[in-house]
Amino acid sequence: MAPVNFSESNRLQTRLHELVPGGAHTYARGADQYPEDMAPVLVRGQGARVWDADGNCFVEYGMGLRAVTLGHAYQPVLDEVRAVLDNGLSFSRPTRLELDAAEAFLSLVPGADMVKFGKNGSDATTAALRLARAATGRDLVAICADQPFFSTDDWFIGSVPMNAGIPAATRELTVSFRYNDLDSVRDLFARHPDRVSCVFLEAATALAEPEPGFLEGLRQLCDQHGALLIFDEMITGFRWSAGGAQAVYGVSPDLSCWGKAMGNGFPISALAGRREYMELGGLRTDAERVFLLSTTHGPESVSLAAFLGVVRAYREGDPVGRMERAGTRLADGVNAAAAEAGVSEQVAALGRPSCLIFTTKDADLKPSQAFRTLFLQEMLGHGVLGQSFVISAAHTDEDVELTLEAVRASLAVYRKAVDAGSVDGLLRGRPVAPALRSQAAPRRL
Ligand SMILES: Cc1ncc(COP(=O)(O)O)c(C=O)c1O
Repeated sequence: MAPVNFSESNRLQTRLHELVPGGAHTYARGADQYPEDMAPVLVRGQGARVWDADGNCFVEYGMGLRAVTLGHAYQPVLDEVRAVLDNGLSFSRPTRLELDAAEAFLSLVPGADMVKFGKNGSDATTAALRLARAATGRDLVAICADQPFFSTDDWFIGSVPMNAGIPAATRELTVSFRYNDLDSVRDLFARHPDRVSCVFLEAATALAEPEPGFLEGLRQLCDQHGALLIFDEMITGFRWSAGGAQAVYGVSPDLSCWGKAMGNGFPISALAGRREYMELGGLRTDAERVFLLSTTHGPESVSLAAFLGVVRAYREGDPVGRMERAGTRLADGVNAAAAEAGVSEQVAALGRPSCLIFTTKDADLKPSQAFRTLFLQEMLGHGVLGQSFVISAAHTDEDVELTLEAVRASLAVYRKAVDAGSVDGLLRGRPVAPALRSQAAPRRL
């Protein structure tokens, strides 16, 4: 493997650890998620490529934690942003842009009557929960136990291993059910009569599509028990379709929560839903009013302009189709390479083509952080950066081809580890660790 120099990245990473807890402003971006001393600190991106502080260029996957579907520095979106910069960004009254963005959003999401914008996805998911609690007068939230993340706020973080600082009283209000298992939802309603305010889930994930009748069954159960159905469209929005998973599967939730790809990297999120609920946060209600998504930066012009640029790109082109075609080509190539290397039981590209992940199992076919780290180490050494194969519409055939060359080279090394039953002598540093763990790793970061 050609040696790749990470010396400037490593110097910057050390400094980041001194100034920023965890050495990154998002845990999923942390150096502990990458092989030791091989965590590039980035300076620039263009299309599907990124460049680091040492001048290395990588084909990137993951795309800003799935926030970028059109590619880095996508010019038509930047043009929309540039066009508003000279007019001021934040005022004491709403702008016309706020209306334009609301109209554009609601034209994409057929089941929603109203929308309110925020900055992070968690703004929207937490607002959805508050609205559901206010609308139903109930305190419990039922979340899908098989899905990894819904919010940075206490109601969700209380349910992960890294939950220091969150009172037991808050944790007890979050209960869970299983994906594609209506009985587990029935069971929750039976065990907690008149207490479940909402059923909260991603309608689909990269790995799990709804079985026939599951989403319809949830809709029915929620209606029957007076709970709200809430879809988290953070990942599915603009990746499954511009109208999210609800447009693909044809089941309308009461509320839905959006973020990530809405701004192609610019920070914008949205809570959308049925008028009867959304108006509880408005001025046209006789009910007790809900404090709904009201932030200083919520309606600033830059992100709304970026969102309108994204909507235009989805109207005029077919980014989802492009992602699906490139993702299919990539998955087929990875899986063929794995078969050729004799490791197809260990390494596979799986999931929806626009949102691929890869498996990295050990010789006993158990998921392995050490084997994962070895794969990441080899891929980085061959010019590919990614904790997944989540693609963008900017990934060209050439990007995919370069990735497949890296995969073939990496799997030759992976095969040696499988044959040896261990990464010893092949993995150069410590293995990666889950981002949301309760203890810091007892080793140098
Ligand atoms: C499915 C899902 N919901 C909600 C969130 C929270 O979004 P944010 O990090 O923008 O607050 C995430 C973040 O990764 C997510 O993946």
